[in-house]
Amino acid sequence: MVDLSVRIGDLTLQNPVTPASGAFSWEYNDVIDLNRLGGLVAKTICREPRLGNPTPRMAETEAGIIQSIGLPGKGIQYFLDHIVPEYAKFKPPLIVSASSEDIDEFALLASELDVPDVDVLEANISCPTRNTTGGNFAMHEEHTRKVVAALRAATKKPLWVKLSPNAGDIVSVALAAEEGGADCLVIANTFLSLKIRTDNFRPALGNKFGGLVSPALKPIVLRMVYQVAKQVKIPIIGIGGVTKAEDVVEYMLAGASAVGIGYAGFRNPTALVSIIDDLERWCDERGIEKVSDLIGAVRDDDMEMDTLAAASIGV
Ligand SMILES: Cc1cc2nc3c(=O)[nH]c(=O)nc-3n(C[C@H](O)[C@H](O)[C@H](O)COP(=O)(O)O)c2cc1C
Repeated sequence: MVDLSVRIGDLTLQNPVTPASGAFSWEYNDVIDLNRLGGLVAKTICREPRLGNPTPRMAETEAGIIQSIGLPGKGIQYFLDHIVPEYAKFKPPLIVSASSEDIDEFALLASELDVPDVDVLEANISCPTRNTTGGNFAMHEEHTRKVVAALRAATKKPLWVKLSPNAGDIVSVALAAEEGGADCLVIANTFLSLKIRTDNFRPALGNKFGGLVSPALKPIVLRMVYQVAKQVKIPIIGIGGVTKAEDVVEYMLAGASAVGIGYAGFRNPTALVSIIDDLERWCDERGIEKVSDLIGAVRDDDMEMDTLAAASIGV
């Protein structure tokens, strides 16, 4: 039987399937066995309590949903006292996503999350509806380098950094995050988008813009993972449009060590566990002994790389 475990730096995940931040909580344990997952990823938290964005916060499109939730939450103390203990009841490592609009406050939050039951800090520096100097640092390499370096200095936890698909040149931003001290790159957050209602001519979301999630975006994010994997040494988690085991395989072939899943879990709350089962079967049927052998195993050595260079040039 295939060994599904993967390593992300010093951390071993029992399999490469994790939930995506904001699309998951420990309450899913009512429907699936959370101990089956590669990791547990908490919703992004902010230091101070936040109400979130005006409603409506979600709208359907022909191919997926746009959403602008606005990171509602009860703040760091509530998170440490009430939410971390809920996740700590389960075996997989706890990955805590955190965000701030201010670098000093972000660093303080990182240090406050340096507690035993938190295994990884995932820095959400790519909230699509925020400013590039505050909360959406990943739009720009210099902002990225600065915030990642500040977080690196503030925590000893493994530091995963979630990048933006909206950056013109994600490869440069990825390199900046690596230079800043990231241990892993999470690619990617949602695509900035807009829906306008034709009945009242108003934007469909209370916050006007939102992030699009859709299986249709998978080829775009896959391309980003591939490009970044060619340039960085640290591991990558691919997130975007994973709905089946073959999508996990594709991301791994492109260079990801694991994947995150959001949308598919909304459509079917048992999707993550089914995908793990299917991945195991897929590997066994092909005699693949270690799923980690798939990482970066795309067979393209005989293909010219000019298109990669061209596509990597920033806009
Ligand atoms: C309702 C909703 C809330 C989200 N909240 C967060 C969040 O708090 N932090 C974050 O980093 N990403 C958040 N995301 C983005 C997801 O983590 C993920 O990057 C995105 O959904 C793409 O993956 P998918 O195609 O599997 O859904 C959210 C996505 C959705 C749909």
